[in-house]
Amino acid sequence: MLLKDKLAQFNQSGHAILAANFYNFETLTGILNAVGDTSQDIILQVSEGTIQYLGLEMTVDMVRAALKQHEICGWLHLDHGSSIELVQQCLDVGFDSVMIDASEKPLEENIKITRQVVRLAESYQANVEAELGYIAKLGQHQGGNIYTQPEEAKNFAEATGINALAIAVGTAHGFYKDPPHLQLDLIASIHAITPAALVLHGASGVPAEQLKKAINNGISKINVATDSKNAFMQSLKVTLNKTDEIDLRLVFPKATKAVSDLIAQKLTIISSA
Ligand code: 13P
Repeated sequence: MLLKDKLAQFNQSGHAILAANFYNFETLTGILNAVGDTSQDIILQVSEGTIQYLGLEMTVDMVRAALKQHEICGWLHLDHGSSIELVQQCLDVGFDSVMIDASEKPLEENIKITRQVVRLAESYQANVEAELGYIAKLGQHQGGNIYTQPEEAKNFAEATGINALAIAVGTAHGFYKDPPHLQLDLIASIHAITPAALVLHGASGVPAEQLKKAINNGISKINVATDSKNAFMQSLKVTLNKTDEIDLRLVFPKATKAVSDLIAQKLTIISSA
């Protein structure tokens, strides 16, 4: 099934799917080990940084091979694509889904660029996600209460023809400085009039109850990155402090398991919403 059809289905039925960022073989394996224990599907996403780290072809081939080996249904998605050129490259090598993030540009420009990407993605039958509003990126100022407005979201989705829309409703990327308070009524208002599946970025560190309510109010895709990175590195640090082992194949599995445990928790939250 195409991801855009899956998200449209979930948008109607009130379900959500986890979109987990991965960075290397270990984090990818950790995610898929957790998914394999469930009947849930998964979106595997990479940022531009990960594409630079792994290489574009390696990213695609690794994901295809891993999904086959784990016998899991999943889709590969470009997270926060910053240019049409990168989107084109990703579509050419076989990504199922792309995000164009022109949210920091003036609204008219965001609409224009996003519309171009939607047109480009048509012949690939790829899913297209865009962003509207201010969701603090790593290192940016958190808070500020600049939320996506329902009418704006509706107009943006209609003007661009996107399949999925990332909205600013109280989350931020990275670790939270203050506990997040999601604008649940706002999510419901946006969902009621916007013809696109709604995406929650910055879901790491959001309490389970808020995540469930966000899904119940209309979120269809939940993005998690920081929590996985953190689980992997914290576990690795503990192991390395206790051993001089140089066989990395004996050292990494514990950190991979930490990612699995973390992703399993997120999948449970999502399936119980
Ligand atoms: P976190 O790193 O806060 O989980 O956000 C992930 C995300 O939204 C990726 O686009």
